[in-house]
Amino acid sequence: MGYITVYKNKNFIEREHLPVDIDFKNSDSYIWNMCVDSKHEGKGAGTSLIDYVINNTSGNVYSIVNETNLPSIKIHQKNKMQEINRFQKSHIGKLETFILFKSNKKSC
Ligand SMILES: CC(C)(COP(=O)(O)OP(=O)(O)OC[C@H]1O[C@@H](n2cnc3c(N)ncnc32)[C@H](O)[C@@H]1OP(=O)(O)O)[C@@H](O)C(=O)NCCC(=O)NCCS
Repeated sequence: MGYITVYKNKNFIEREHLPVDIDFKNSDSYIWNMCVDSKHEGKGAGTSLIDYVINNTSGNVYSIVNETNLPSIKIHQKNKMQEINRFQKSHIGKLETFILFKSNKKSC
């Protein structure tokens, strides 16, 4: 019905050549992708997937969302993740704006 994929211990900013600078720690995680089957959208699964990652990892959790993806922005905000940066990047040949979210947790 849905999945979430997470990089652990890898600096996603360097790996994805993103035009932002963060103080990435080895204990931090990055939500690389997530999806909920359209038949099950709007029932809280997406919110629960992010909650699971935040509560089962030790460091900060980061995530990047297209600024037009309102359901995704909402589930990050419901998990009290905060916008720390907004940047533009070419995506399938088109310049788009993305939001970098960070969980509220302190790094260990
Ligand atoms: C983003 C996604 C994972 C959300 O999953 P979900 O299980 O539907 O999420 P939830 O049910 O927990 O919450 C969705 C929220 O967005 C809201 N929402 C849905 N469509 C919306 C819209 N067009 N505008 C604003 N809010 C919207 C819902 O009302 C809900 O908020 P609420 O609980 O306050 O009512 C799912 O829509 C999805 O798989 N999308 C396609 C892939 C994708 O975009 N992945 C994220 C990449 S970062």
